[in-house]
Amino acid sequence: MSDTPNSPAKGFLSKHAILERSPTLLLVSSLLVVAVGGIVEIAPLFYLEGTIEEVEGVRPYSPLELAGRDIYVREGCYVCHSQMIRPMRDEVERYGHYSLAAESMYDHPFQWGSKRTGPDLARVGGKYSDAWHVDHLTAPRSVVPESVMPGYAYLLDAEVNAEYAADVVATHRIVGVPYTDEMIEVAAADVMAQADPDTDAYDALLERYPGAQIRNFDGAPGVSEMDALIAYLQMLGTTVDFSTFTPAASR
Ligand code: HEC
Repeated sequence: MSDTPNSPAKGFLSKHAILERSPTLLLVSSLLVVAVGGIVEIAPLFYLEGTIEEVEGVRPYSPLELAGRDIYVREGCYVCHSQMIRPMRDEVERYGHYSLAAESMYDHPFQWGSKRTGPDLARVGGKYSDAWHVDHLTAPRSVVPESVMPGYAYLLDAEVNAEYAADVVATHRIVGVPYTDEMIEVAAADVMAQADPDTDAYDALLERYPGAQIRNFDGAPGVSEMDALIAYLQMLGTTVDFSTFTPAASR
């Protein structure tokens, strides 16, 4: 210690020694310090009406999108892709508007992720054509030569099993997603209808799921897992109209 014997620093440090030499005193004081930090973080939440602000346009997933989301989780896409654009300038310039909590309010489980071997996918909807996604998911290096992403060609051959669509939708209602009885009842039909541009249920489907994209996503007959996954990817980040959105804090 290079301090002179009477320096203020030395006086302070010698008092700190009392704390450091008594484990009980040190433990109690550390707990106190942590408790203050905890209260500062948690107390404001008690005065908020909701921690998620309502945002216009956010709607529950359609049954086909939900099936696609399940495939996304099953295949472990989250191992390499996040779905949360952080409010930092480099992120916003690359991916678009930072993610809002409301945009993942119907995600069970959420797909924010923390690993980015590949880019963030929170706003990938509409960025590429369906045909690009088919090529990319079938053989990533056919469109992005330097890609390290694995291929998922088998999704083209696997039919979506609509038999369980109603159960999946009903399960999401149990955890708070506002699906109606009607949505559950026609879930299996909606899976098939969303991948068929000539469906009779076009208007009814759009009424249930405003803005849902209805078309043959993989360009092949039948409803494959590729259809479901692309339907999901193409809606990611597209529900909120950011040209009219103002954050609650600046309203
Ligand atoms: C081993 C890591 C890895 C896995 C697993 C993975 N990806 Fe990727 N993904 C990448 C990389 C790296 C890129 C960037 C190069 C490219 O476009 O292929 C990428 C790019 C993408 C893109 C283009 C994003 C953009 O903005 O250009 C999409 C869409 C995508 N992946 C979807 C998926 C889906 C869906 C799955 C699961 C079926 C998946 N990925 C699994 C690594 C991965």
